[in-house]
Parts: sequence; structure tokens; C-alpha cells
Amino acid sequence: MTLDIEYVRAQFPAFEVPALKGQAFFENAGGSYTSRFVIERLERFYRERKVQPYAPYEASRLGGEEMDEARARLAAMLGVANDELSFGPSTTQNTYVLAQAFRQWMRPGEAIVVTNQDHEANTGPWRRLAEAGIEVREWKIDPETGHLDPAALEDLLDESVRLVCFPHCSNVVGEVNPVTEITVMAHAAGAFVCCDGVSYAPHGFPNVGELGPDIYLFSSYKTYGPHQGIMVIRRELGEQLPNQGHYFNAGTLYKRFTPAGPDHAQVAACAGMADYIDALAGHHGISGDAAARAAGVHDLMRGHEVALLQPLLDYLSSKNAVRLLGPTAAERRAPTVAVELQEAAEPVAARLAAHGIMAGGGDFYAVRALQAMGVDADKGVLRLSFVHYTSEAEIAQLIGALDREL
Ligand SMILES: Cc1ncc(COP(=O)(O)O)c(C=O)c1O
Repeated sequence: MTLDIEYVRAQFPAFEVPALKGQAFFENAGGSYTSRFVIERLERFYRERKVQPYAPYEASRLGGEEMDEARARLAAMLGVANDELSFGPSTTQNTYVLAQAFRQWMRPGEAIVVTNQDHEANTGPWRRLAEAGIEVREWKIDPETGHLDPAALEDLLDESVRLVCFPHCSNVVGEVNPVTEITVMAHAAGAFVCCDGVSYAPHGFPNVGELGPDIYLFSSYKTYGPHQGIMVIRRELGEQLPNQGHYFNAGTLYKRFTPAGPDHAQVAACAGMADYIDALAGHHGISGDAAARAAGVHDLMRGHEVALLQPLLDYLSSKNAVRLLGPTAAERRAPTVAVELQEAAEPVAARLAAHGIMAGGGDFYAVRALQAMGVDADKGVLRLSFVHYTSEAEIAQLIGALDREL
């Protein structure tokens, strides 16, 4: 079964906007277009339900129920319990709060493992635990390929490690890391695992329950939704870590690591992401429970993306003036493709804009990863990232533009 790209694009109002016609979007790793289901819910909330939720009058009841619906449906798709999923303002704000909880929970002399492959959001906050006497061990990437080798993690693990932080997929290397294998290793050493799924989740929701990490994070503004950070914290860990919210909310797992009041409208609109996955499942004849529907849609998206990605990787690998970061085989990576050029990346992105290509250049907050691979972070990389709604014609448009400008 293949993805019906016409149907997919009809679910995104951006493709109907005259000013965006002919513009091929290749900065999806920065933030995706929003599905119509999410936009419709957001508008309805602001028009009809924009009152304090969970009160006994109708508008409030509907608003509160929609917020609960969002959490319940997304949790079911991710294969976790309802209260193991919470919404924060962004993934970065979520990791800073979590790091504060670990700072209070850990003892001096205990250790954490971080990588130099991560976006700063899943490494910087954790590294600051050194200020509290926590030992920070760096799991380093291969300087040539950017690969994170699980064998190298083995040497960093012992009984003093409490937490291993790593990305499901880096936002510049693109390689999909073996989350379950890494989690099994960390758990065997007695450590918990925090996996940054921000660069992976746009390519299909994973079954976090089966995958295994204790913490799984992603950002819904990159998964066709509103601007929220979605955080799964498994119960065993979440109940041990000190509560970061108001004392009277400590007994509710999904409130323990989100100290501020939530953005009601955006949380409610997150249910639109579940609507979208279900609409894709229905259209393509995928049935089963929520997790099964999400898995089927994940595979559909992935199939489409891999087929479009390989020609782009082949093209970029054939260019002498270009250094492609990460794997050259599409099956091993997400369609988030960063390339080092002989010149600074941002002016090249600006030249591509003249060909109707929307892409960016810079460090993408993955400064440590770029430096580890010998890329001058000031020069940056050109990043070409796409998702399942990208068409074959847009890939051809991109390759044509690159041919002129590289
Ligand atoms: C891989 C990765 N992790 C974390 C983040 C931070 O997410 P947020 O913008 O929600 O803080 C980003 C943002 O670009 C990212 O690409």
C-alpha cells in the first residue's frame, strides 16, 4: 500500500495558500505545516470554548473534555497510559524542568550520560547537573560519520549512572538510533533513559511503550499540530522524581513536570493530530486500536519518505563540493539531510529561495554535533528536511535548484 499524496496534501490548508504555491517546503525539521483538523479545533476553541476549563458550565466542560481527549488519544497512539503523557510549552522547557527534578533527586558522585549528537535541548540542561556535583559522561559520535555507536556506550555505563540521554534521531545527522537496544543496555546497568524524539516523531508516531524509554519527548509544532512540547514519562520514573508543580498537584502524574498552567487551546487542538492520523488510517484502510492505526500510518509515511529520500541522497553524495552528514542509505535515516558546503550555508539557502525552495542554513542548535564532525558552526550546514506530504515533484524541484546553485 502506498500513501495517497493527493489526499494527504488536501488535509493541509498551507498547500492552498496562493502565496505558498510553487514554494517547495524543505525546512520541516524546524516546524511542519499544520493539519486542518488542528486548525479547525484551535479556531473552535478560541471562538466557542475559550473559558477556564473543567467548570460545570457547558463551554467549560467541552473545553476540558477536549483537553482530556487530546491526552488520552495521543497516549493511546503512543502505547502509554493516559497520565504518562503531559503537555509543556516546548521540548526545551520540558528538559529544563526535568533536569531540575533530576538535580534534586540525584546525589553528588552519581553520573549521567549525554551525547554530542543531540540538539542542545537534550544535552545542555543535563550537562548543567555538573554544577551539583553530578558526573557528566559524554557519549561521543564518530567524527567522520556522526554515528553514535552503542558499543561505545557500554564503556560509559556502571552502577553510578542514573540516566542516559540521547536522540531517537539527530536533527543534523539524521541517523535513526536503535532506541530499544540502547534502552536495554541502560536498564541493565540500572539507569533510566531520556530519548529526544523531536526529529523522529514527524515521520510517524512510535509506540513508546514498546520502544522502551522512560522519557520520550517531541514537539507537536513539528508533528502537524500546535506549538507544544509533548512529554511521555513512564510511571515508575515519574513517581520517583520530585514533583516540580504545585504541591497539591503532586498526586497527578501528568501535572508533576509541567509547573505552569497549560495553554488550554493548544492542548485541546492537539487532539487534531490524532484526528489526522485516524483520517489517514481510515482513508488507507488501516484498522485496529489507536496504537495499531498509528503504527500503520507510521509505516505508510516512512515508505513514502524513504522512496523520495534515496534519489536526493544519491544526488548529494555524487557532488564533490558537498559533504553529506549521516548515512547515505535512506532506510537508516530520517529525511532530515544536512550538508556541509565549501561556503557558508545561509547565503546558499537565500539563493535557493529564488528557485522556490524554502530551506535554511545554520547550526540548528546542534552546535556540539557539528563541531564534533569538524564543521565550522558559523559557516553552518544547509539543511533540507521533508516529511510525508512532500511530493516527488518537489524533490525534483529541489534537485534542479541545487544543481544551479551548488
Ligand atoms: C532534535 C530536536 N530536539 C529538541 C528541539 C527543541 O524543541 P523545542 O523547540 O520544542 O524546544 C528541537 C528543535 O528544533 C530539535 O530539532
